[in-house]
Amino acid sequence: MFEARNLVCRSGFFQPLIGRIGQTLLNNISGPRLGPVTVLDAGCGEGSQLAQLADVWKRGTPAGFLGAGLDLSKEGVAIAAREYAGFIWCVGDLARSPFQDQSFDVVLNVLSASNYGEFSRLLRKDGMLIKVIPGSGHLCQLRHALYDDRSPRQAYSNEKTRALFMRHFDMLDERQIRYDVALQEELLEPLVRMTPLSWGVRDEQIQQALQLAIREVTADFTMLVGRAKIR
Ligand SMILES: C[S@@+](CC[C@H](N)C(=O)[O-])C[C@H]1O[C@@H](n2cnc3c(N)ncnc32)[C@H](O)[C@@H]1O
Repeated sequence: MFEARNLVCRSGFFQPLIGRIGQTLLNNISGPRLGPVTVLDAGCGEGSQLAQLADVWKRGTPAGFLGAGLDLSKEGVAIAAREYAGFIWCVGDLARSPFQDQSFDVVLNVLSASNYGEFSRLLRKDGMLIKVIPGSGHLCQLRHALYDDRSPRQAYSNEKTRALFMRHFDMLDERQIRYDVALQEELLEPLVRMTPLSWGVRDEQIQQALQLAIREVTADFTMLVGRAKIR
């Protein structure tokens, strides 16, 4: 799954999203700094998003970037360590991370589980949490191909996740990032394999979806930017 995800990520699938996150960092963490910006990617998967974010940062400012990625999956972190040098990669549970209090300017949490108490502990006083959740249109073409119209998985709402975020963090910014991605033929199967949408779906159904030869998919995300309420 992570090899498939790495293939899709490298093709630039998340580039507009990462560009937007990078811009948020550049706009909010500015001025002369004594040290590099410190970023934890909590639920980093195969690591490409943190590596791409560091590139956006370095193109925008001479300030340094110290990035750490944490994921429960040994396989994901092994790919990250193999592919992207110059970061701290770490296998662990984001509910009990091995970092000291107030170690980070930014916690990034993309399409992954959260632990708001732990994120608050890890963030510096003015630190920011950037959480990305799928929007209702995310990969809608795959949803239609994989589920029948009566399936509850056909529709998706991120309202509960958003409400939970706001219980723990003050919202500084919220925006939708939506774009269409032209899909090269060889990327359809890795895309289907990398997404939790295909989990629990029979292989026969996946094969049928692949036969549809989908050539364009919608990426639809909501980016939540917040500051911890309680420290
Ligand atoms: C859908 S993937 C997203 C990965 C990456 N952020 C991306 O978008 O490519 C969700 C990730 O969260 C990780 N994850 C889930 N629960 C976790 C936990 N408690 N601690 C650390 N990582 C966790 C999974 O191992 C998986 O890599």
